Parts: sequence; C-alpha cells; structure tokens
Amino acid sequence: MFVAFEGIDGSGKSSVLERTASILQERGVSTWTTREPTEGLNMSKELELDRSFGGALEQFFLFTADRIRHSGEIKEKSGKFSVILTDRHLLSSLAYQGTVLSVYMGGLENTVEWMMQVSRYVAPLPDMTIILEVPVELAIRRISHRKDLTGFEEKEFLRRVDGAYRSISFSGVERIDGSGTIDSVADACSTMIMERIRK
Ligand code: TYD
Repeated sequence: MFVAFEGIDGSGKSSVLERTASILQERGVSTWTTREPTEGLNMSKELELDRSFGGALEQFFLFTADRIRHSGEIKEKSGKFSVILTDRHLLSSLAYQGTVLSVYMGGLENTVEWMMQVSRYVAPLPDMTIILEVPVELAIRRISHRKDLTGFEEKEFLRRVDGAYRSISFSGVERIDGSGTIDSVADACSTMIMERIRK
C-alpha cells in the first residue's frame, strides 16, 4: 500500500510520518519511508521564488520529472515492503504550483484537471493521500523559527496553498486534524492505514 502525507509547510507531516512509520513497524507492518522532492532534484533559489506563470510551469515539470524517477524506486520497494510512506507527492504540485497556475488557467479546478492529465502516465496515484490540516496561522508560527525557509514558504503564498489543499480532492484523499500532538496525530494516521490494509 502506497500512502502520501501532505499538508502545508509547518503542518507537521515529516514528524508525523516518521512516528507513523514506527507505529506500523511495531505492529509488524514492514514500512519504507521516502520523500519528494528527492535528493536528485536541484532547483535554484531563483526558480523557487518565481511566481510567474512560466516559473510555476517550470517548477511543475521539474517536480514531475523528479516524480518519474521516484515512482521507479517506489515500484521496486513495493515488492519488499507492505507499506510505503512518502512525504509529499502529486498533491504538493497540485496545491503549490496549482495555486499560481490557476490564476492563468481559468481557476483551480481546470488547472488541477490539466495537471492530473499530464501526470497520468508519470506515476501511479497513491492508494491513500493523508492531508494534515492545521490552522494556517499555527503552521506559519511553527515555521517562522526556521532559518532556511524555501521560496515556497512565504506567508501570503502559504495561505493560498492552504486554501488549495482544502479544496482539492481525488480518489484516496483523506483529511486528518494535524493540530494535536505528534503522537496523537500519528496514532490517527496509523489506525486509518491499518483499517485500509485489513479491508
Ligand atoms: P518540504 O517537504 O517542505 O521539505 P523541507 O521539510 O526539507 O523544507 O518540501 C520542500 C518544498 O517543496 C515545500 O515548500 C513544497 C515544495 N514542493 C512543491 O512546491 N511542489 C511539489 O510537487 C513538491 C514535491 C514540493
């Protein structure tokens, strides 16, 4: 089973993912964790900060190309592990790049449809995509102490990305309240995954 963890920066998804992986392992479910962007992706700071139509398109195709390679690795690991957890996947592109592209492409719904069409043969959709929802102000407070903020983490932009995460839905999307402790949120995530495995 292939599960993506999603949410805005500061939603706590990386910590929750690690904790969820530990819980699953403790319950005897072999689990492999991974992330996007992969280490192979080199995006310039200048491009990260680019909010023009061309900039967002270039970002989308770079993240998509990165996802092609990543999906090969995921396919290989799926023969060895029962569960694969990835920190970000297609929904990150839909939410982050989709937010910018939607201004030029007739709204978010049209944009997401186009991005999903382009991505159709790139990588299989996760069986489950868990969005960790936290109030955007809390997420911003959590990341404001970080020194190495990426160009995707500017406040106003994150507010718009949060709106996109709240409105996009496709097969396998689940939402979990991410404002509790890491342990309680990971508990909810692992329960949801275990329930799906048993089906
Ligand atoms: P992130 O998970 O925040 O990494 P880190 O915890 O190391 O900062 O991911 C890096 C940034 O990449 C994040 O701000 C969101 C952005 N991103 C996109 O805009 N589109 C994508 O398709 C992906 C995979 C990531």
